[in-house]
Amino acid sequence: MKKQNIYILAIESSCDDTSAAVMCNDTTLSNVVATQKIHEEYGGVVPELASRAHQQNIVPVIHQALTKAKIDKNQLSAIAFTRGPGLMGSLLVGTSFAKSLALGLGIPLIEVNHMQAHILAHFIREEGFDRPDFPFLALTISGGHTQIVLVRNYFDMEILGETLDDAVGEAFDKTAKIIGLPYPGGPLVDKLALKGNPQAYPFPKPKVKGLNFSFSGLKTSILYFIQRETAANPNFIEQNREDICASIQYTIVEILMDKLKKAVKQTGIKRVAIGGGVSANSGIRIALKNTESQLGWTTYIPKFEYCTDNAAMIGIVGYLKFREGKFTDQSVTAKARYIIP
Ligand code: KG4
Ligand code: ZN
Repeated sequence: MKKQNIYILAIESSCDDTSAAVMCNDTTLSNVVATQKIHEEYGGVVPELASRAHQQNIVPVIHQALTKAKIDKNQLSAIAFTRGPGLMGSLLVGTSFAKSLALGLGIPLIEVNHMQAHILAHFIREEGFDRPDFPFLALTISGGHTQIVLVRNYFDMEILGETLDDAVGEAFDKTAKIIGLPYPGGPLVDKLALKGNPQAYPFPKPKVKGLNFSFSGLKTSILYFIQRETAANPNFIEQNREDICASIQYTIVEILMDKLKKAVKQTGIKRVAIGGGVSANSGIRIALKNTESQLGWTTYIPKFEYCTDNAAMIGIVGYLKFREGKFTDQSVTAKARYIIP
C-alpha cells in the first residue's frame, strides 16, 4: 500500500521574520518569508514593533504559503510552530495562531525548538544537497545564536559550547554600526571584506575556556581602535573601510574555526554542518570548505533560504516529530528561553 503523504503547515515568528511554509513529508512546497523592514531605521530589532508586524503579516503570509503550495487547509495533517527561543511578543503571535488553527481544523499541533530547527534544516530534501549522517557537529551562527551542538540523532542533541555574551551575527552587526554601516551590517561587512586585506589590522581573539565563545571583547576593541584612529585622522574609516571589514571578518571567522577544530578534535567527529544567517558569510564558507582537503572533514551548508530564519526548517521538524507521534497539547505556551531539549 502506498504511504499517505503528510502535509505540515509550519509557522515561524521568533524574531523579526514572519514565515509560513507547507511541507509534503520532507519536501518544501512553499516557504514564504516576510522580513520586517521597520527595524532598519532603529539599527536593531525593536521587540514591540516586531510583534505588531507579526500580527499584520501572519494571515497574508500563511495564505500565500497555502496558495503557493496549492494545498487547501483541510488537507493539512498538522500545524508546527516555533515555541522558542526568541522574543516573547513575537513568539506569542505564532504560538496563538498555530494553536487556534489546529483547534479549528481539528488536527495535531507540534511545537518546535528554533535552534533544533536550524540544525534539522539539513534534512529538508533538496537536489544537490547531501544530508549529514549521524553523529555530526552543528555550528549554528546567527543574529541571535552561536552554538556548537553534537547531533547524535534527530532528537538527541547536546550543546557543547555557546556564546557567553553576543551572538556572532550581533558581533558583525554591532561592529558594522561602529564603522557607519546600516543594519543589518553582516552582509555589508562581507561584501566590503572581499576587496580588503584581512591582515591589515590584527584584532585580539578572546581567550574563552572550552568550546564557548565570547564576542563582546572584540566589539569593544574595535570601538577603541576606531576611536583612536579617527581622532588622528577623521577620514580613517572612509579611507580604509574595506581593510577594516576584511580584518573584522577574518578575526570572527578565526574565532569560529578555532572552536570548531577543537570540537572535532574532542569528539573525533569530522562531519560538520552549519546553519543560521551568518552561514551566508563568504569567509566562513571558504574556511569550512578548506577543511575538506586540509583536514578530511565533510562539511554541509544548507541552501541559503534554509540558513536564515524560515518556516521550512520548522516544517521539517514538524514532519520528523509527526512520524514519531510527538504532538503537543493546547496547554502549550511560548518559551522565550528554550534550550534544545
Ligand atoms: O538567522 P538570521 O536570519 O536571523 C537570526 O536568527 O538572527 O541571521 C541574521 C544575522 C544578522 O546578524 C546578519 O547580519 C547576519 O546574520 N548575516 C551575515 C551575512 N548574512 C547575514 N553576517 C555576515 N556575513 C553575511 N554574509
Ligand atoms: Zn534563527
